[in-house]
Amino acid sequence: MNNVNVTNEKYSINIQEDNKKEIKIKDAFIYLADCMNVFCKIADNSIDFIATDPPYFLDGMGDEWSDVKLRKRESKAGVVRGLPRGMKFDPSQGKRLEIFFYNVSKEAIRVLKPGGFMASFSSGRLFHRIASASENAGFEIRDMLIWEHNGGQGKAFTQDHFVKKMKISNDEKENIIKKLQNRKTPQLRPKFESILLAQKPKEGTFVENWLTWGTGLIRTDFETQQTTILNYRKPNMRKEIGHMTIKPVGIMERLIEIFSVQGQVVLDPFMGSGTTGVAALRKMRKFIGFEIEKEYFKIAKKRLEQFNACYASNCYEKIG
Ligand SMILES: C[S@@+](CC[C@H](N)C(=O)[O-])C[C@H]1O[C@@H](n2cnc3c(N)ncnc32)[C@H](O)[C@@H]1O
Repeated sequence: MNNVNVTNEKYSINIQEDNKKEIKIKDAFIYLADCMNVFCKIADNSIDFIATDPPYFLDGMGDEWSDVKLRKRESKAGVVRGLPRGMKFDPSQGKRLEIFFYNVSKEAIRVLKPGGFMASFSSGRLFHRIASASENAGFEIRDMLIWEHNGGQGKAFTQDHFVKKMKISNDEKENIIKKLQNRKTPQLRPKFESILLAQKPKEGTFVENWLTWGTGLIRTDFETQQTTILNYRKPNMRKEIGHMTIKPVGIMERLIEIFSVQGQVVLDPFMGSGTTGVAALRKMRKFIGFEIEKEYFKIAKKRLEQFNACYASNCYEKIG
């Protein structure tokens, strides 16, 4: 094992060059690993900003969330075990997520610099779990940001098909269907995703913390003043790139610009296809990313390499 210790930076990581599970591409270090096994490689108080999009333990999945495994279990229609994705309500899902995210947050708060922010995507029905978990781990909950997008798939369904399967006469079926008045299951078509904004407690005043750590204050002066609503279309490259829950590079760039400055280190413990990494490099930040699935790790690697190749020839605007 050939360990290279990156000691010239404030953060220190071992890159095992003969093990392609840990790769350096320009200013990005990416790891094929369970984040809980590699957080220990990052020094305390060394990360400036965490931007992430964790697994939510979607319906039909166990604690070992895997979008790769999920796709194997679903049909072309996006159906998991007879029900559309996200339709089966499992109350234990939130509890499992909260425990999982508490452990992640304990590590996140350790590696963040005082005053550093963590922005974590979450779904409307699981936001409170992520917020409680990170608050219990020591974070201060600063806000809920909104990713307003062009809309997801409507998941509300009528109950007619259940009635039609009932062992009763056709007249009785018709009667029940009439009584249901075309009412549907409680899922309005989604138009946003919530983003938790949590902050590691700062040391001293805002000014003192900024002067010591370079964190804790945010940028708001863009073309128009930044609000809590970030409006970005859903990427239409989901199929092309090969990740089901890919985020727009634009929104990750904006989060990075708001919560960090050039040259700082951005961490994504659930990098998926590497969107945060691409955004970080585009905005001249350093990046550390973890991903548990080999298939996604390879996609992230490819996207970062493409960015790197294009950066040299100035065509990086085209890299999504
Ligand atoms: C919601 S997706 C992130 C997608 C990403 N934002 C993008 O644009 O591609 C969450 C990712 O976390 C990965 N993951 C799940 N559990 C993990 C763990 N314990 N450690 C590292 N990665 C994990 C999943 O494989 C998945 O790719």
